Amino acid sequence: MRTQVAIIGGGPSGLLLSQLLNRAGIATVVLERKSRDYVLGRIRAGVLETGLVDLLHEAGAGDRMDREGHLHDGCKLAQNGRMFRIDFRQACGRQVMVYGQTEVTRDLYAAQDAIGATVIHDTEDVALHDLTGTPFVTWTDAGGSHRLDCDFIAGCDGFHGISRQSIPTDVRREFEKIYPFGWLGILSHTPPADSELIYAAHDRGFALASMRSATLSRSYIQVPLTDRVEDWSDDAFWTEFKARMPAEVADRLITGPSIEKSIAPLRSFVSEPMRWGRLFLCGDASHIVPPTGAKGLNLAASDVHYLYEGLTAHYRGDDRGIEAYSQRALARVWQAMRFSWSLTMMMHRFPGASDYDRRMQDTDLAQLETSETARRLMAENYTGLPY
Ligand code: APR
Ligand code: PHB
Repeated sequence: MRTQVAIIGGGPSGLLLSQLLNRAGIATVVLERKSRDYVLGRIRAGVLETGLVDLLHEAGAGDRMDREGHLHDGCKLAQNGRMFRIDFRQACGRQVMVYGQTEVTRDLYAAQDAIGATVIHDTEDVALHDLTGTPFVTWTDAGGSHRLDCDFIAGCDGFHGISRQSIPTDVRREFEKIYPFGWLGILSHTPPADSELIYAAHDRGFALASMRSATLSRSYIQVPLTDRVEDWSDDAFWTEFKARMPAEVADRLITGPSIEKSIAPLRSFVSEPMRWGRLFLCGDASHIVPPTGAKGLNLAASDVHYLYEGLTAHYRGDDRGIEAYSQRALARVWQAMRFSWSLTMMMHRFPGASDYDRRMQDTDLAQLETSETARRLMAENYTGLPY
């Protein structure tokens, strides 16, 4: 087999890149380790920056998002029961789209089907070869062993994928911060706690009230890394969630059984560079953000934007885009890393934090409540810095 761009990974990064390249007349093959149902069974975040909304429209995969997504003009921050609002529109003139990543992925699969794109599922032992020469990919599946010759490889295979590991260790430079807690999240067929997202800092720990629709809520509480999902009944979750939310929110909250419940650890991670020869890394393959700033999917989108621009320019004879890809993508990655880190540090309770540390957290929140400049910086980062 031969194609122009081999894409490893059929998550949001890989599918969005495949869809954009195919619409630009560039042939791709997506190799995905799991089945489509498995990929679509993952519950992920649901806040889309304008840049991603625009890319989905450009990819011809934005219609259902326009119908079923919800544009939000702001969010709320709470501190031990006191709540205030960050007005994105007033602060920076932008909004965010609340629409589940699972739905984005579903729409991208449908768009790929509509154009007859090649997405091969259940691939095993994917290996990347001759990355600094004439690249090719090998794998096995039910049909036996396969080889795909290509011009370029896009590593869109997430944190646990093979692509980042295919860059020599003496070339890679990795940066990591592990947070001493996780997020216990549940999905429930209940009305959202509020019309906008609520990020709540509390002495008992952080909590987040999010949503997927008017009847589907996504709710989180910070838990110790030692906790397991089976330690938390639905009732115990809701009791703790309500204890961390402002009383006005807790009093009106409608709770219900979880339809999904899981604990996710929090880490900040970046692997540099994002290019090695003919291999380009996109999304979680290169970087992981704590979910606090809702940047995971949105950073994958800006990587895809830069790579899509670079590859289309290459096939027009201009290599400046692919030459600049790693530097260009990393500049925005580190901005989002800083924002996600700062919001995580401000909103969570850290074991062993000093009284001084706690005062710094309180003061950070107080500045957001009292300073228009602080709110503008928060709004610009949350709604998405320009590509
Ligand atoms: N071969 C083929 N596919 C692989 C391999 C492999 N060796 N390893 C991983 N994959 C697949 C995974 O099964 C997954 O479907 O690559 C895909 C990577 O998708 P994601 O992990 O969702 O990463 P990405 O597409 O970059 O999307 C980033 O997803 O994890 C969230 O918070 C993250 O919202 C962000 C978004
Ligand atoms: C979610 O809806 O899952 C979500 C929203 C915002 C975040 C994190 C998660 O910051």
